[in-house]
Amino acid sequence: MTESLYDSYHRQIDYMRISVTDRCNLRCIYCNASTRQHLSHDDILRYEEISRVVRIAAKLGVHSIRLTGGEPTVRPRVAELVSMLRGIAGIKDISMTTNAVNLTEMAQPLKRAGLDRVNISLDTFRPERFAAMCGVGRLDDVLLGIEAARKAGLNPVKTNTVVLRGINDDEVVDFARKSVTDAWNVRFIEEMPLVDNPNGYKLVSVREIKEIIEREMGPMQPYDCPSGGHGPARYYHLGGGGGTIGLIGPVTDCFCDTCNRFRLTADGKLRPCLLREDEVDLKSALRAEASDEEIEALMLRAVAMKQEKHQLDEHIVPHGRNMRQIGG
Ligand code: 5AD
Ligand code: SF4
Repeated sequence: MTESLYDSYHRQIDYMRISVTDRCNLRCIYCNASTRQHLSHDDILRYEEISRVVRIAAKLGVHSIRLTGGEPTVRPRVAELVSMLRGIAGIKDISMTTNAVNLTEMAQPLKRAGLDRVNISLDTFRPERFAAMCGVGRLDDVLLGIEAARKAGLNPVKTNTVVLRGINDDEVVDFARKSVTDAWNVRFIEEMPLVDNPNGYKLVSVREIKEIIEREMGPMQPYDCPSGGHGPARYYHLGGGGGTIGLIGPVTDCFCDTCNRFRLTADGKLRPCLLREDEVDLKSALRAEASDEEIEALMLRAVAMKQEKHQLDEHIVPHGRNMRQIGG
């Protein structure tokens, strides 16, 4: 029988984000610039181990899974993991956050394996800026990857743009316009200070992003997201085009009160909150042949450890790992 999982603040936890690797084929300045150290093969959970964790989580009431990284598509045979997860009773939605560099080849196999949809990280439409912000890789590959995702039916394709003052804030309107001209679902994210950017660049708040868009394009109409809006974004549209604009404000528009998620890191730690250091070691238990009941107890412990909110307003940021290492 499927149960429901609640934390100490009466939030239902039905969503698990799983980082399948800490490796990435890009080096975005706010995420993956400070260290070249990577986990070794033995450190990361095997697909069988991840599947087992998800099977136990599903019994507890987890319905949605998102695969993240690093960059999830750089882990060999990730489509096999998708099909393993697809077969687990109770899992209704499987999504992936990716930089799309590999999607030209992988969108179709991933869809066939049972992936429902993708969120794609894209911070600029300008090739030279892409090179400056992402270190390596080609913007064209990302744009082709987005098209491939759409053609493969990984819908709705959403893009995530982290807005950095003085770096890409002059492209906010270009992204917003894509929601009208190409029916894109674009989302803007406030930069969170983490290891690579402990002080952040100068924050561009979601309020300011909205003002920039409205100044140029007129009022943004609130939009009721069909998925129920449990995620962190507030959605809008500009009328005309079929796309949407999402604003995600972890810093100035904290959404902790509706948080529905916890994380599994590539090295097998359950992490109740992205922005807090607390973790529960699941890998040691998995490798010590713990029973399902013991794994379940660790999962319940991780959920019970969830704190009410992050501490960004007190300028307390996690310093142990960067985003690539936690799983975005
Ligand atoms: N602040 C905000 N968003 C971030 N991401 C990575 N690092 C940060 C940060 N410091 C985003 C990526 C990706 C998603 C997983 O998280 O751009 O879209
Ligand atoms: Fe890689 Fe995503 Fe981090 Fe960029 S933001 S370095 S694409 S994991």
